Amino acid sequence: MSFPENFTPELVVESPGRINLIGEHTDYNLGYVLPTAIEKKITFKFKRNHTEKECNLFSLGYNTGFTLQLDKIARSNVEWENYILGVLNEILLRTDKLRGFDCTIESKLPMGSGLSSSAALECGLAFGLNELFNLGLSKMDIVQLSQKAEHTFVGTQCGIMDQFASVMSEKGHVILLDCKSLEHQQIPIHIAPYKMIMLNTKVSHNLASSEYNTRKRECEEGVAIIKKKYPEVMSLRDVTATMIQEFEETMDATLFKRCSFIVSENDRVLKTANALKANDLKLFGSLLYEAHEGISKLYEVSCPESDFLVDFSKQYNAVLGARQTGGGFGGCTLNIVHKDKVNAFVEEATKAYKEAFNIELEAFEVQPSAGTYIQN
Ligand code: GLA
Repeated sequence: MSFPENFTPELVVESPGRINLIGEHTDYNLGYVLPTAIEKKITFKFKRNHTEKECNLFSLGYNTGFTLQLDKIARSNVEWENYILGVLNEILLRTDKLRGFDCTIESKLPMGSGLSSSAALECGLAFGLNELFNLGLSKMDIVQLSQKAEHTFVGTQCGIMDQFASVMSEKGHVILLDCKSLEHQQIPIHIAPYKMIMLNTKVSHNLASSEYNTRKRECEEGVAIIKKKYPEVMSLRDVTATMIQEFEETMDATLFKRCSFIVSENDRVLKTANALKANDLKLFGSLLYEAHEGISKLYEVSCPESDFLVDFSKQYNAVLGARQTGGGFGGCTLNIVHKDKVNAFVEEATKAYKEAFNIELEAFEVQPSAGTYIQN
């Protein structure tokens, strides 16, 4: 399929990726996370095509597209199409106002790099269609239906963090989100003279999706065991450090590692939020290192490439902290680096990484940015 050359959009929507400062895999355990949107984003151009049901979507990056009929939505064998189909399916379950449209999609967000290009894709589409057809969906509806689309059409039982960050973020802030109550606080972040530098391992081990669902199941199994003694516990969010310790001898070792990580990670999110409010950047950095240790040794969602970069950064006084960000098994590491040493650090990390893995590292700075918006 090629897209009509005379495509003049009625609406342009920008939908950002996200980073998570800390609080990994805590969202589906109803705990805390601390994400924000970044400037790297996906641009959608929309136009109504005045048909009842025909939709034409074209990805400029893949240079390919597809046509679908709104009354015949079914899962596809093509992975990226399922994000689109899933969102359309969820919108149709909520409103009958959707009609035919044409849309081009252009991504500046590397896929599989742990920056949640999937949430950006889902939320940007839902946001744009809501505007184009006046569907009356709230921002929270967009967040939740996009998350649901990922469960039903993509098959990852993800939490709510990525979609929430992609839509709700504010420039210059990180969101302290309570994934149980969905209450959230926008926390201003000032880390000068330090910068947030992402190092992209360029690997995304395809374990990610299956292992993700396995981790979720392991946490649920842990909760079931804890519940026998503490019936009031509904999720790992309700478990304290003292409580989990009681299960060290009796719980299966793997389940115990998973559960202990989540309990301590929740605590680290709250400590990090306080450290940022108090501008205690040293503490912020050391919490990142501590989190990575847990990601790697207890939750076991890291990989040799991410571990290498985090370890490498520890030689530098100019780096306050680092950890792998996102779902895991590759993607990017987040590094808090003094502005005067960014170039030297990136140069040396690139060289060492190339020697170790024969992969060209990609490095870029991120800044807390606004969530999904309409381009004027
Ligand atoms: C993926 C999921 C999120 C979250 C992170 C890990 O990005 O989509 O819901 O669970 O992994 O923190």
